[in-house]
Amino acid sequence: MTHAADPSTQEVAHRHAHYPDLAGRTAVITGGSRGIGAATAAALAANGAAVAVVGRDKNALAAVTADITRAGGRAIWTAADCTKPDELQDMAASVTGQLGPIDILAAFAGGNGMPVPTDQETPDHWRQVIESDLNSTFYTAHAVLPGMIERHHGTIITMSSAAARQAARSAAAYAAAKAGVIAFTRHLADEMAPHRIRVNCLAPSTVENDRIRTWVPKEQLKALAASFPLRRIGQPDDIAAAALFLASDASSWITGTTLDIAGGKIMI
Ligand SMILES: NC(=O)c1ccc[n+]([C@@H]2O[C@H](COP(=O)([O-])OP(=O)(O)OC[C@H]3O[C@@H](n4cnc5c(N)ncnc54)[C@H](OP(=O)(O)O)[C@@H]3O)[C@@H](O)[C@H]2O)c1
Repeated sequence: MTHAADPSTQEVAHRHAHYPDLAGRTAVITGGSRGIGAATAAALAANGAAVAVVGRDKNALAAVTADITRAGGRAIWTAADCTKPDELQDMAASVTGQLGPIDILAAFAGGNGMPVPTDQETPDHWRQVIESDLNSTFYTAHAVLPGMIERHHGTIITMSSAAARQAARSAAAYAAAKAGVIAFTRHLADEMAPHRIRVNCLAPSTVENDRIRTWVPKEQLKALAASFPLRRIGQPDDIAAAALFLASDASSWITGTTLDIAGGKIMI
């Protein structure tokens, strides 16, 4: 099994397919400070893209950027809260100023938090989850779209979840937010197709992250792995591999899709 925090871009390049068209592109990865976003940033950088990693944790952003730079990639970081449209507008302007026009957006910021049974859910917490897992995707796309529309060029990858595909005792708010991301992706893809901007969505099932490593006991993790047809949980690199494909011209006739990356658990 490979892990996301692998510092060697060379090793990442070895693990991932190589897409020559990604060289020289500018990519923004929100949620880039850890987990799936950090793995995707490293994979894009290993393919020659200049990457901007975005999140709130400045130390983690600096560490991800340093790892990529040390391995020979081009990376910068910008702190922004993806629930704050103004910060995202500043982020887009700053990245464009430093790295050039944005070609690729991986809008991955978000996260499940603790599942709450719906009868115990509060309106405030519900709104908070919708804000951080759905509205943030709109705010982020909205900040980069003008530049992409102007250039008639770009690809956007959004982040849903297996929770949006079937009920699995995840929190209803999170599932509703992530289902909203799928609908948003389809509509945006349709609107943006005339501008030659593609928009696709990823829907992972359980992917190892800090929370899972910290809170899920080993035995429970084993049982969880056994519940997947492919007998393991996902690794951030599994998702990064799909993001690379959707970012590259290799997927140039694919837009509006949602790709389930779920070890066979979700088959639609
Ligand atoms: N892991 C899974 O099993 C799984 C499955 C399906 C979907 N997903 C989705 O994949 C994405 C990444 O998940 P992960 O497992 O890699 O999570 P993670 O390790 O917890 O990372 C979450 C990332 O999102 C960022 N983030 C969260 N809220 C933000 C906000 N308001 N503004 C800016 N950044 C924000 C965090 O940045 P800071 O900490 O720097 O703020 C962090 O980089 C999420 O959207 C999650 O819902 C994960």
